[in-house]
Amino acid sequence: MIDNEKVLFSGMQATGNLTLGNYLGALKNWVKLSDEYLCFYSVVDLHSITVRQDPAELRKRARALLTLYIAAGIDPFKACIYFQSHVSGHAELSWILNCFTYMGELNRMTQFKDKSAKHADNINAGLFTYPVLMAADILLYQADVVPVGVDQMQHLELTRDIAQRFNGIFGDIFTIPEAYIGKQGAKIMSLQDPSKKMSKSDENPNASIYLMDDTDTIMRKCKRAVTDSLAVVAYSDDQPGVKNLIDIYSSCTNKTPAEVEKEFEGKGYGDFKMAVGESVVSVLKPLQDRYYELSKDKAYIDKVIKENAEKADYYAQKTLRKVKKKVGFPEVPRI
Ligand code: TYM
Repeated sequence: MIDNEKVLFSGMQATGNLTLGNYLGALKNWVKLSDEYLCFYSVVDLHSITVRQDPAELRKRARALLTLYIAAGIDPFKACIYFQSHVSGHAELSWILNCFTYMGELNRMTQFKDKSAKHADNINAGLFTYPVLMAADILLYQADVVPVGVDQMQHLELTRDIAQRFNGIFGDIFTIPEAYIGKQGAKIMSLQDPSKKMSKSDENPNASIYLMDDTDTIMRKCKRAVTDSLAVVAYSDDQPGVKNLIDIYSSCTNKTPAEVEKEFEGKGYGDFKMAVGESVVSVLKPLQDRYYELSKDKAYIDKVIKENAEKADYYAQKTLRKVKKKVGFPEVPRI
């Protein structure tokens, strides 16, 4: 690593089908930022097992997600695209940081509350300490910046608190990370209920656009999106459905909401929804094509996986050695 090179870390879970929210809130910014930082993009499979998974399915999805990172436009031999489970440092640092995190802090995490309500039959300790593993992911690479959607902000603040606490005791070990939240698309809402976030696990298939949806499906879902009876394309909290569609359209076309309002002045929701659908297709179709092409090249993907596991491990070990020394673990004698 060049000494003053800034580091970026982010990750995604390989559970469920990725949505347009994942793309616009995170992946799109990953691509944008990947030239400016030393980047680590992890497929966070350790996080996935906080909810029961079918092993064969998890393995398949994890590989598909890694391929999708590349299909989105990230160069996997510049940025480090890898599986979290291939770097044992994540779990090791997570344990250490568990001992510097309070139960009260974890109890306040809204995602824990939501997920335990959803999976009431399996409220395991991993679900509870999940944010500590996330802190370990970020701190292990001394990340300066973490591009995420708004829903991850609380976890990021906890990460900063844990890092500051640890540094307060042991000196400047960890870089204190900053969140990077995109101007548009940081919180894409459900197309059927704009008070809820668009989510992989929504039971209503019309609520989410999935990254692998075909053109007809995308157009149909946009057409059916819930709006209102005001019949003006305005970026207003009083029109949450329309506001969400403007967010989607702005993100996909890189236009500002004000420009979008102007473009659709005097036009009906029918025209607007059609344009939203087309803008989504124009972003997702090339990504899907690249994904299908890349998936055929097993040797290439295998090489990415192997080389990057080694690269990530190299950086992870650097931090881990320092941390272990600071907390007082004996070193392996050099004999
Ligand atoms: P995950 O897998 O739920 O989501 C991946 C990324 O997508 C963003 N996102 C959204 N953005 C906008 N609108 C939406 N509707 C939407 N839904 C999801 C998320 O904010 C996230 O950036 N715990 C994390 C994964 C993780 C991680 C990390 C992230 C593990 N370790 C370290 C950053 C750094 C998660 O479950 O994201």
